Amino acid sequence: STPSSFPPPSSSPAPASHLIGRKEDIVKAGRLIKTVNVCREILVLYHQGTLHAMDLRCYHAGGPLQHGDIEEFNGRLCIVCPWHKYKITLAEGEGLYQAVDDPTVKPLRTHWRSKGVKQRIHKVTEVKGSVYVTLNDCSEAIESDVYQTERYRTGSIQA
Ligand code: FES
Repeated sequence: STPSSFPPPSSSPAPASHLIGRKEDIVKAGRLIKTVNVCREILVLYHQGTLHAMDLRCYHAGGPLQHGDIEEFNGRLCIVCPWHKYKITLAEGEGLYQAVDDPTVKPLRTHWRSKGVKQRIHKVTEVKGSVYVTLNDCSEAIESDVYQTERYRTGSIQA
């Protein structure tokens, strides 16, 4: 049966590792999309010597993160969603934004702030050249879970 509604990955019986592929192939490709646990779409990417994995669809409105640029903001590596440029830290899945210190003071001064964890980040392990992803089974809902549902997939906004 296909999981249909909101459950985070913890609804699977036990945390399990999913084979993604050979590391050398992922390094060469840079990015790879894989469906694990029947229907969870995961983006695995290689950047500056490190592998990362996260939910494929951006927590904001389901944007395709496989097309996002990777940039550093406030010393933290982020993927920038191609749809509305939301910035998501690769390591934690935090949404970063620039807050204005005082809107009455011109020129405006801003500083980076975090909205907290918005994108579900998954664990990547490498064993003898093979790369595995273990789904993050944190039972608290994370906003990107919304775009891992069948309702979203069969809707018209899928790109
Ligand atoms: Fe990603 Fe809006 S869908 S920023």
